[in-house]
Amino acid sequence: MLVSAAEMLKKAKAGHYAVGHFNINNLEWTKCILQAAEEMKSPVILGVSEGAGKYMTGFKTITAMVDAMVEEMGITVPVALHLDHGSYEGCKKCIEAGFSSIMFDGSHYPIEENIAKTKELVAICKEKGMSLEAEVGAIGGEEDGVIGKGECADPEECKMIADLGIDFLAAGIGNIHGKYPENWEGLSFETLDAIQQKTGDMPLVLHGGTGIPDDMIKKAISLGVAKINVNTECQIVFAEATRKYIEEGKDLEGKGFDPRKLLKPGCDAIIDKVKEKIELFGSAGKA
Ligand code: G3H
Ligand code: ZN
Repeated sequence: MLVSAAEMLKKAKAGHYAVGHFNINNLEWTKCILQAAEEMKSPVILGVSEGAGKYMTGFKTITAMVDAMVEEMGITVPVALHLDHGSYEGCKKCIEAGFSSIMFDGSHYPIEENIAKTKELVAICKEKGMSLEAEVGAIGGEEDGVIGKGECADPEECKMIADLGIDFLAAGIGNIHGKYPENWEGLSFETLDAIQQKTGDMPLVLHGGTGIPDDMIKKAISLGVAKINVNTECQIVFAEATRKYIEEGKDLEGKGFDPRKLLKPGCDAIIDKVKEKIELFGSAGKA
């Protein structure tokens, strides 16, 4: 059964570790992430961008697939199915489709509009027992056509959104989606600290998890980050392992062109990467 992410993230914040949010793209991705989380005995959040939602034919298809996989794989760890960087309309669709968690990304709206829309979604999510993530201060870089500037959020605005009754808050602290540029200045721990002081027990979310150095990840967790989003890193290891398999001509040997064989090296790479992140975030054994 899919669960809301509220409880797992409350526990994570109190226990000074973070739960990984890993984006899914297809059946293989989903299966690999679930397998890794189960083997590590870690709670996990499956993130779905609106672009990935369309790619997988729609949110209802995804809910049905994930629900059935959790059951047939015998998954015992808590699993949340979460809309990533959702628009207002996307949130409504996922609520209807049976997701257990949504993110409303209103960071590009003026704060008053972000507040009004977030407030409306808080009421719906409470009624349905779903968790809600909100965002203040756009995350930099590009993800599935969603482009953010990479700002540092205003701690006062973070408090205004946190007080609406959301379950966890994504706040820009200089983080960027995708690969970090050479001249990246790093995370702003000063901003993170100020946000945590203003928002108290609220679990904070760190987007753009790909390529953030381990020591920065650990420091961010110590300052209240309880959910870390990782997407690009799984894509990179999948692509590298698949390319190597093909370049070595393994797809030409025997039945190596069978999609189940062709996709295996990439899938194994995703499993290893997710396990590595779970270990780093400290959520292993916390299910
Ligand atoms: O919302 C998803 C993420 O923030 C993932 O970022 O692709 O840089 O790992 P990433
Ligand atoms: Zn993100």
